[in-house]
Amino acid sequence: MSDVRDEAADDRAEAQAFRELLRGLRVPHGAELPVFDPARAPGAPLPLFRRWLREAAEGGEPGPHTMMLATAGADGRPSLRTVMLHDADARGWHFGTHRTSRKGRELAEHPYASLGFHWMLPGRQVRISGRVTEAGAEASAADLRGRSPAALAAALAGAGRQSAVLGSYEELERAFADARQRAGREPDATAPTWTLYVLEPDEVEFYQEEARRRHVRLRYRRAPEERGGWRRELLWP
Ligand SMILES: Cc1cc2nc3c(=O)[nH]c(=O)nc-3n(C[C@H](O)[C@H](O)[C@H](O)COP(=O)(O)O)c2cc1C
Repeated sequence: MSDVRDEAADDRAEAQAFRELLRGLRVPHGAELPVFDPARAPGAPLPLFRRWLREAAEGGEPGPHTMMLATAGADGRPSLRTVMLHDADARGWHFGTHRTSRKGRELAEHPYASLGFHWMLPGRQVRISGRVTEAGAEASAADLRGRSPAALAAALAGAGRQSAVLGSYEELERAFADARQRAGREPDATAPTWTLYVLEPDEVEFYQEEARRRHVRLRYRRAPEERGGWRRELLWP
């Protein structure tokens, strides 16, 4: 009986310590947050995004090209994971993955997604939403060719299997050993399910933190009737 009581007391103490930990945590910022004047922002989101990513990289933000990718399949339930940004150009934001993965299947069912970047040091966040299309077999193969041997090996190992239930780590080890050998022998090998996707944004939102929490939010919405094709709006933070 007293053991049960002790356990309950331990659980409560642990829950309390956890809450205190959360309350004590702070988001690390650089020495000074940049000032973002939305009145001077460009007419389209791409140049601003590229500038913010460059500034994050130059300011020492770790992995500024990693982003959260949110998708939802036919059941409408969202799912989220980290992927790398491979490019951002006039066509959209590019990322690579397996078409047979959970995200690939969800994109086939519902070809819309949202991307999220959070750069802590400059206190910035960017959200990008829109329709996602496959860039095609040639572009997907080129995407894989442009990556490191380790990335090629991982893509070969995961082809057709990423997101499936794994039977054992021995199975994974064997698949990786084979894939590493193959990537060494055939640097131009293609992973049949590897797909380059392009998200063509219809909405891009930039968020700049401000020291007194009077944060700045600037949303670009695609508006063909506007000069430059985008409407800019401020949002309540
Ligand atoms: C920093 C980081 C970068 C990643 N980049 C990719 C990527 O570019 N492509 C990819 O398929 N998975 C990437 N992953 C793995 C995904 O987050 C995810 O676990 C995997 O793609 C399976 O996702 P799914 O089951 O939702 O389809 C990355 C993970 C991390 C932590």
